[in-house]
Amino acid sequence: MSLDLESRLAARAVDYLLDPPTGDDKVIDFSAPEELLSLFDGVLPIGLDDRTDTASDQRLVDAVDLVLRHSVHTSHPRFLNQNFAGPDPIAVVGDWLGAALNTTAATFEAAPVFTLMENAVLHKLARLAGYPVDPSEPVPALPPGLFCPGGSTGTLYALQLARHRHQPDVITAGAGPDRLRVFVSAAGHYAATKSAALLGLGTDAVVEVAADHDGAMIPDDLATAVRSSIDRGATPLAVIGTAGTTVTSAFDDLNALADICAEHGIWLHVDGCYGGSALFSERHRHRLAGVERSDSFVWNLHKMMGVTQQCTALLIQDPARLGACFAANADYLFQSDKLNAEYDNGDRTFQCARRVDSLKLWLTWRARGDAGFAERIDRAVAMADHTRAAIDASDGRFAPVVAGDFTNVVFAWIPPDLRPLTLAGGGVDALPADDRDRLHRLPPAIKARMQAEGTAMVGYQPVHGLNTFRMLFMNPRVTTDDVEAILAGIDEYGSDVAQVSIRD
Ligand SMILES: Cc1ncc(COP(=O)(O)O)c(C=O)c1O
Repeated sequence: MSLDLESRLAARAVDYLLDPPTGDDKVIDFSAPEELLSLFDGVLPIGLDDRTDTASDQRLVDAVDLVLRHSVHTSHPRFLNQNFAGPDPIAVVGDWLGAALNTTAATFEAAPVFTLMENAVLHKLARLAGYPVDPSEPVPALPPGLFCPGGSTGTLYALQLARHRHQPDVITAGAGPDRLRVFVSAAGHYAATKSAALLGLGTDAVVEVAADHDGAMIPDDLATAVRSSIDRGATPLAVIGTAGTTVTSAFDDLNALADICAEHGIWLHVDGCYGGSALFSERHRHRLAGVERSDSFVWNLHKMMGVTQQCTALLIQDPARLGACFAANADYLFQSDKLNAEYDNGDRTFQCARRVDSLKLWLTWRARGDAGFAERIDRAVAMADHTRAAIDASDGRFAPVVAGDFTNVVFAWIPPDLRPLTLAGGGVDALPADDRDRLHRLPPAIKARMQAEGTAMVGYQPVHGLNTFRMLFMNPRVTTDDVEAILAGIDEYGSDVAQVSIRD
């Protein structure tokens, strides 16, 4: 094995990490699947034959260059496409370090440092959430939660915990006769239905509660839905409150949800995958008021905080529930008579091997400090506020589709003959069918141009049934110049596309 190859490949990764594309560089050097396959065919085919020979060092280096060239540059300040962006370089190094040490966070024996780090960061996250942890013991043996591979998995685990509380013998006897119900807002994440399917509750067990124009659950509708479920002989199991919805970054009123859950003995799970990180900011933490009353709280640090995917904490109000629900007591791994067995986190979760995701968070937190974390949130919201103001001052070229006051800006490009147009606050529902149809077809056409030219990446999705753009702010490298450039690009593509569609 030539170490020269490893050094050459690692150098490319480090160069990219320290000097990623920015400004007018392309966000994506777009190629269709067949073009990509043929580009790689010229260097090192993506497809693996029955017999895969050793590639030369130069071909491997060239292939890595192609990977870098044709991947989406999510740290580019004009990538505002999804609920993640702008990885913190320190977190990337933490990820590499964890991979280099390649261990599992199952036992203290195999991961002594990482076990303590996991327990420490969970303790601090729980403190931020207002969960009952002892501040004098910042590295507890039993942490107030665990890291899991993503937010959807966190919600799956939380619903299993709820079911276990409701029916303690569910682990041994399987599902009982109760018709269980899970309540989530219409703007909530699809992890709810997927989890219900996987847990055998069935997707019909998920009751969709109406959300307001901006995407927050309407608490009165939740109260009504819970009562009508009970009246029909079903058993409300869990309410999922969302702190930062995927599309509009809306926050449910967690105190109102907690009141309803307390009245009926329902498990309250908070999906803070996206907006949980508002807790880092003095200015924005009020959005999660009431989270301290939840039974479980899932929080993706790989979204707003740029700690590389995946980095997900599931916090539990009563952490003893984890072992009771998930332990399998495998005596070849979790021997109770070995040194420091009380620190073994692995039997408090479903997974066996677990990545040491806490390391990259711990390293980033220590490097940036509480102040750096708060600044990341404050800056993101300030940039979203700037964009909302730019849209308001655009002479009708753009119109907000939801009011919004957090990181997501949801808007439409308006063709000249339809300006000005009010779409927020129910305006979409009042649109004449023809105008609505025209507006609906524009974002996919604009996006296709944007993607082909690689100038920016901004997503679109239906909101109130109308395709709309969504710019998500979390990458600290985004500047007001980037915002102006993206809006100008959408305006230019929109004008071109609208002319073509008028001619058609
Ligand atoms: C609100 C919300 N919840 C849950 C998830 C799912 O998290 P993950 O992708 O880590 O499974 C997302 C992902 O975007 C989300 O936005």
